[in-house]
Amino acid sequence: MKSALTTWSLGLVLFHQSFAQRSLLRTNGAVACDGEFSPISAADYIAAINPGWNLGNTLDAVPNEGSWNNPPVVASTFEDVKAAGFKSVRIPVTYADHFTSGSPNWTIDPAWLQRVSDVVDMALDNGLFVVTNLHHDSWEWADVTASGANLTMIEEKFYRSWVQIGEKLGCKSSLVALEPINEPPANTAEDGTELNKINDLFLQALVESGGFNTQRVVTLVGGSMDSIKTSQWFKAPTGYSNPWAVQYHYYSPYDFIFQAWGKTVWGSEADKAAIEADFANIRGNFTDIPLVIGEFEVNTLLEPAARRKYIDFAVRTARKYNTSVILWDNGDGALDRATHTWRDPILMDIMFNAVNGVSNSLSDATTDASAVEQLSSAYLFHKVGDDVTDQTATFLLNGNKIESVKVVDGAVLSSPKDYSISDGTLTFKKAFLSTYLSPTAVPGSKANLTVTFSAGADASVEIVQWDVPTLGATTSQAIPGSDLLIPITWKGLYKLAAVKMLRDDGIYLFDDWTQWLGPLQQARGTYSGQWDRGGAHVTIKEAAVSQVVSGKVPTTFTFEFYPRVAGNAVNYTLTV
Ligand SMILES: *[C@@H]1O[C@H](CO)[C@@H](O)[C@H](O)[C@H]1NC(C)=O
Ligand SMILES: *[C@@H]1O[C@H](CO)[C@@H](O)[C@H](O)[C@H]1NC(C)=O
Ligand SMILES: *[C@@H]1O[C@H](CO)[C@@H](O)[C@H](O)[C@H]1NC(C)=O
Ligand SMILES: *[C@@H]1O[C@H](CO)[C@@H](O)[C@H](O)[C@H]1NC(C)=O
Ligand SMILES: *[C@@H]1O[C@H](CO)[C@@H](O)[C@H](O)[C@H]1NC(C)=O
Ligand SMILES: *[C@@H]1O[C@H](CO)[C@@H](O)[C@H](O)[C@H]1NC(C)=O
Repeated sequence: MKSALTTWSLGLVLFHQSFAQRSLLRTNGAVACDGEFSPISAADYIAAINPGWNLGNTLDAVPNEGSWNNPPVVASTFEDVKAAGFKSVRIPVTYADHFTSGSPNWTIDPAWLQRVSDVVDMALDNGLFVVTNLHHDSWEWADVTASGANLTMIEEKFYRSWVQIGEKLGCKSSLVALEPINEPPANTAEDGTELNKINDLFLQALVESGGFNTQRVVTLVGGSMDSIKTSQWFKAPTGYSNPWAVQYHYYSPYDFIFQAWGKTVWGSEADKAAIEADFANIRGNFTDIPLVIGEFEVNTLLEPAARRKYIDFAVRTARKYNTSVILWDNGDGALDRATHTWRDPILMDIMFNAVNGVSNSLSDATTDASAVEQLSSAYLFHKVGDDVTDQTATFLLNGNKIESVKVVDGAVLSSPKDYSISDGTLTFKKAFLSTYLSPTAVPGSKANLTVTFSAGADASVEIVQWDVPTLGATTSQAIPGSDLLIPITWKGLYKLAAVKMLRDDGIYLFDDWTQWLGPLQQARGTYSGQWDRGGAHVTIKEAAVSQVVSGKVPTTFTFEFYPRVAGNAVNYTLTV
């Protein structure tokens, strides 16, 4: 990574390592610790944890660690995170299925508390700051908006939970910060007021738990950890000594982050202004409070130029508003924990540079939401049957200069033989491209090039020979009750961009309001909920199949691929 690494946290790390974490339980329940605590202000803490990484879908999985898509965490994952340059980890923990008694004690299984403590130590042993919380409990039992919610029970259980977690973690070093609860639902100002009480109960529980907990940094939360609701309803706690920051989460725009309604394009001035307005709004409400975005991400299935632009802009703008960031990673995201590799190392490098204020040069790509096709300089696409010609790739230099182009694990290209440069535009020569491409070359990824710049992250250019994929069948009757898997022969990238879902009577299968969106979004479904892809098939999810059955009108599903250009799509019809 080119990111400038600081040694800021070294002193604290050494401090952590030099004291054994001995603790003994006082008879009144509060923990007393041997050793000393090195206090740190909330502002210094939040500055020092930037950027952080989330151990998602792990200790927060329901009912247990290992229940979702990740095996139990191992120490080497924290080594990978530290080696990449992250300063901190957020360790979300769900306690819901680990209570061994009910009201009024709400005893947490000691083995589970031990596991949490051990995982926190694994991260600390790698010199990482740690933020840990009570996670999906927010919808398992602590949802103050649920109909008939027993607030007395929620408050009692929440308080007892934090006394016990506080006792268990009370002697950890000041590298450990605590967060009361993840994304607590809130719809009204009343809910917001209840969550202020929850923040207070959390601080009160830390007082009761003893240890170093009243000196420990905490990141308090507002409604849903949404920047607007937090701005509206959060009240600063009074009467507690903890240094505190505010944490919020950011997954906006929803349709781009979660690949809904065909939104694969991002980066217009309006897109940027929306993010900036959100960050400025919460900063404007918390002018002197340290702020951290405890979760944000982009789906790694998205077109790379768009997602890299998003991360660059979001992180750069967070920096502008003096806000630290912690990347969400559910295990299918940034880090492939099994192979110890980052799925998009360039994206990571972009993020680290943005955190440090270093300009990145970025692959240009379509940003216009009303465009009819999506082009991207992260690829050089060549269609089967076409003659090979010179092709260009354009970069937003952002003050840098192009320095070199090389084949990944291969030769450095030479100019003017292989390419020429004009400002931010690289023109790849037909002779060079013909090494990989021809009218009859087998479709697929042919090579990856790395473009380096005078500063900032590298850019990648993938050379792809493509043709329109073919489906193993083109129609069947809609049968509710299960997902429909359709065999596919991919012919280029192993990526699905969007799926249009249009009934034969012209009515959109879902969300007729998408008619107001651009041509690449109208009538498109949502990834994961309505469509998916895997191995050698594409999937129409049960929700979409059922919608066809209940609508009683045959429906055409148009699977769209990259490049998103006219004709790179195939139809499948569900009959009724
Ligand atoms: C609750 O905890 C108290 C204090 O530790 C103990 O005396 C009591 O027996 C516990 N109650 C139950 C129902 O376990
Ligand atoms: C609400 O929770 C409290 C504390 O757990 C309990 O004593 C009370 O019976 C509950 N009320 C209802 C209506 O369930
Ligand atoms: C504070 O947040 C509210 C609610 O989002 C917003 O209306 C207001 O403009 C914000 N204030 C500042 C100074 O940004
Ligand atoms: C960032 O915010 C903290 C408060 O959280 C403040 O102490 C610090 O001076 C700010 N830094 C800049 C560069 O504005
Ligand atoms: C290029 O990189 C992508 C991942 O970014 C990979 O899927 C593909 O196989 C690579 N192509 C070649 C020819 O190695
Ligand atoms: C798919 O079906 C639509 C009608 O829903 C039609 O307009 C389009 O031409 C078809 N595309 C292909 C690739 O057959």
